[in-house]
Amino acid sequence: MVLGGKRILLIISGGIAAYKSLDLIRRLRERGASVRPVMTSGAQQFVTPLAVGALAADHVFTDLFSRQDEQDVGHIRLARECDVVVVAPATADLMAKMANGLADDLASTVLLATDRPVLLAPAMNPHMWSNAATRRNVATLNSDGIHFIGPMSGEMAESREAGMGRMAEPLDIVAAAERLLDTSPKPLAGRKAIVTSGPTHEPIDPVRYIANRSSGRQGHAIASALARLGAEVTLVSGPVTIADPAGVKTIHVERAEDMRDAVLTALPADIAVMVAAVADWRVASASDQKIKKNPGESIPTLALTENPDILKTIGHHTLRPKLVIGFAAETQDIDSNAKNKLERKGADMIVANDVSPATGIMGGVRNRVRIVTHDGIDQWPDMAKEDVATKLAELIAERLRRG
Ligand SMILES: Cc1cc2nc3c(=O)[nH]c(=O)nc-3n(C[C@H](O)[C@H](O)[C@H](O)COP(=O)(O)O)c2cc1C
Repeated sequence: MVLGGKRILLIISGGIAAYKSLDLIRRLRERGASVRPVMTSGAQQFVTPLAVGALAADHVFTDLFSRQDEQDVGHIRLARECDVVVVAPATADLMAKMANGLADDLASTVLLATDRPVLLAPAMNPHMWSNAATRRNVATLNSDGIHFIGPMSGEMAESREAGMGRMAEPLDIVAAAERLLDTSPKPLAGRKAIVTSGPTHEPIDPVRYIANRSSGRQGHAIASALARLGAEVTLVSGPVTIADPAGVKTIHVERAEDMRDAVLTALPADIAVMVAAVADWRVASASDQKIKKNPGESIPTLALTENPDILKTIGHHTLRPKLVIGFAAETQDIDSNAKNKLERKGADMIVANDVSPATGIMGGVRNRVRIVTHDGIDQWPDMAKEDVATKLAELIAERLRRG
């Protein structure tokens, strides 16, 4: 628990995304952090100090010239008596002030006075974000050593507009704060990893596809776990409904062929963990138009052709990563199938699991895996997929350390 006992100074500025800051306070506090809120006057137009203070269980600081708070030079204390300053949402206005060293209210004064790491979660209309002035301010803040999380692309809350400018989700902001404060050892620092995750969708026609039940939970958790140990991770994800992991470069693909191309583009790497449930076959010639059901016509037959074998391609590639790990989802003869796969694919390790429907593993939140290597087979107990990911990342670090 990186955030346990940490003091977060949370500055809320005046954007519509301020409503998400209420959830952010809860998420930070449930991880053991204390949250001291500062609100701009703009922020108070969107959420009330009463709600912020109640959730933070602390006094809400709003006024630079408060006689009560400034008896002991409160703005300097606020700036120093914390482990990190998080600004969420960070408005275009507040970033402009920061980039120019302005200090005309409590939030901007604290930001100028602090010597702690500062994390901004910008949120604004896409035109504000792409405006040349904001671009200049972001570049200045970047070179001043200010940290950023987001913004993301998506629907704007207030304007029926979409584009770049949505505030990062509270859990992503929490993860970014954790990364800033994390002083744990980073045995994978300087290592590059490629992880695949989720299913692939193989089109039949523009509206239909062949898929499988993979949720992406295990692959995404592995990408996160490797990043936590310091690896630079590229995650190539098939279509999933879970969020991109924080601190990882995620590339979204649909088909097996796109996944193969993205994986090969990400080479060279030290580690490849191929978790995705890649479709073995695709429709040989997917139709450009929706296949119509016409009365009296015969039922169409789908001719399949083999998809690229991404694990095998990587396992025999001239730029083969030092450690190549595959996943084997089996419903029978798990060990012998996994051992076979180890040899055929040129892998160093196969993580085998029984995905028979009764296990609930495919699409579920827990996993029970067997680690198959050239040295033997190790059965791990039933665990949450996140715990399997952590243990696997540690095993990877250990294997690379041993050389
Ligand atoms: C309904 C509404 C929504 C707004 N949303 C945003 C926003 O998401 N991001 C932003 O930078 N400014 C937004 N603004 C403009 C800011 O509130 C304005 O620039 C204000 O001066 C910011 O003050 P502050 O940076 O001191 O909080 C919005 C204004 C209104 C009226």
